[in-house]
Amino acid sequence: MLRANKKNVIIKVMETIIKKIDKNQIDENIIREAGEILREGGLVAFPTETVYGLGANALDEEAARKTYAAKGRPSDNPLIVHIADFDDLDEITMNVPPETEALAQRFWPGPLTMIFEKSRLVPYGTTGGLETVAVRMPSDPIAKELILAAGGYVSAPSANTSGRPSPTTAEHVWEDLNGKIEMIIDGGSVDIGLESTIVDMTVTPPMILRPGAITADMLEEVIGVVSVDETILGSESNQPPKAPGMKYRHYAPKAKLTIVQGSLKEEVFAIRQLAYEKARQGKTIGIIGTDETVEFYTHGLIKNIGSRENEKTIARNLYRILREFDEEDVSEIYSESFAIQGIGNAIMNRLEKAAGHCRIPASVITKEQKYRRIVFVSNTDTCRGPVAAQILKKQNLEQEYWIDSKGMVVLFPEPVNQKAEAIMKSNQMSLEGYTSRKLTQRDLNPDTLVLTMGMNQKEKILAEYEHSEEAYTDNVYTLNEFVGDNLEIPDPYGQPLTAYGECYEKITLLIEKLAKILNSFTKGGQ
Ligand code: TXA
Ligand code: MG
Repeated sequence: MLRANKKNVIIKVMETIIKKIDKNQIDENIIREAGEILREGGLVAFPTETVYGLGANALDEEAARKTYAAKGRPSDNPLIVHIADFDDLDEITMNVPPETEALAQRFWPGPLTMIFEKSRLVPYGTTGGLETVAVRMPSDPIAKELILAAGGYVSAPSANTSGRPSPTTAEHVWEDLNGKIEMIIDGGSVDIGLESTIVDMTVTPPMILRPGAITADMLEEVIGVVSVDETILGSESNQPPKAPGMKYRHYAPKAKLTIVQGSLKEEVFAIRQLAYEKARQGKTIGIIGTDETVEFYTHGLIKNIGSRENEKTIARNLYRILREFDEEDVSEIYSESFAIQGIGNAIMNRLEKAAGHCRIPASVITKEQKYRRIVFVSNTDTCRGPVAAQILKKQNLEQEYWIDSKGMVVLFPEPVNQKAEAIMKSNQMSLEGYTSRKLTQRDLNPDTLVLTMGMNQKEKILAEYEHSEEAYTDNVYTLNEFVGDNLEIPDPYGQPLTAYGECYEKITLLIEKLAKILNSFTKGGQ
């Protein structure tokens, strides 16, 4: 296709064909057509079980050059050669160590790449000038068929523009490479979502250069001790990584990404605080949260990466979510961190790279905070407590708090008192949908400021919990006591609407004082 660019120079734009293939019923015609393109030196993106690859004939120097050009990738960054038959390994390698066979038997086809000395058959264009070659036998049936159709040796880097997150769907490939390659084979979403584990077999013991779904433990079960390139995690090492590709800022979304580190609870509090601060500046931050935590975020654009119970899902979702943030108007992105075990190693390695190693301890953000949570306690949690909580949420607080209310006697969840709701509505607020909840021992802890509506709830709490080992009662005050006011809040229950109105006014006065006190804590007060 010919197209005129802005300066009216005619440039050639390639037509990228997309072909859908069902893994379980592979259309041989498409495979034949794609194989033909590769044999003729063209580029075809195809699914593998890890990420989509950008295929080319691995034995053709010119095809390697096109691969680098399409990706915008530095040509010193070597490509992985994909094979479909273990016997083909011999042709492209030399001095293959004896452990290889056991590893191949256990993990091939699969998400493991091994590095060997290259044979003369492999051009330097493919290996980025190195004397070694990386080889992998993918398990995806489409990949296997395509490699065979192309003649047995297909070089394939991840099919993304260099620097962007690797593609886990054909749509991602299209976003990056449309118009630059001949064909995309759409085989649906990939299974694993992170690139293969790379092991250098030319050193003793073999060394992991890039973590992936095949973990160090799994390798050691088969061949005994393996070593790990120390540059894989963290930015402390002065050494360049042994896999050239690992040195580039990679997998990166457009917005700056920071990993928050601490206990999960600390991380959530820190990200809540960050999201709140930015929201006060009129900005929206992106948040990478999990099934376990998303409900706790109130500000920011939140993306759920999956359950911490199922790290495979987290691995599968990571690149998609990083890409999705590129479509959103977020100023920065903050992510929770993940346990560095099993595939968690690979998840954190990619997340660290996406973040350019930018991490922040959660405690740095939360340490100034005297209280993180404020709970207003009334008798039934249907009127004064929820009203106080709602008014406080509307105050101009400099710090983020988890603001809540609880009742002393709540036998079952009840909606807010109708008169209270009428008063809220006349003040442009609402508690619609709120249902009452009972105060429990878990509300009594050093993080939480407990403010009761009257003296009797405070006395009841102390009587019930003061001697309990697990409950922390030093933060329990009546609201007026805490703000230094002797204005008692009357219980309007059963009285006319005007009594509810007066109660609202009194609570508002106290809450305004409370907001000032809370803001004084953040000005270096405590
Ligand atoms: O899962 C995967 O491995 C995917 C799919 C498509 O197979 N491919 C992939 O390729 O991730 P790529 O090019 O995005 O990453 C290959 C990595 C780079 O970091 C590169 O530097 C390293 O492998 N590598 C390749 N050959 C090497 C060699 N001879 N020595 C050291 N590192 C090598
Ligand atoms: Mg890549």
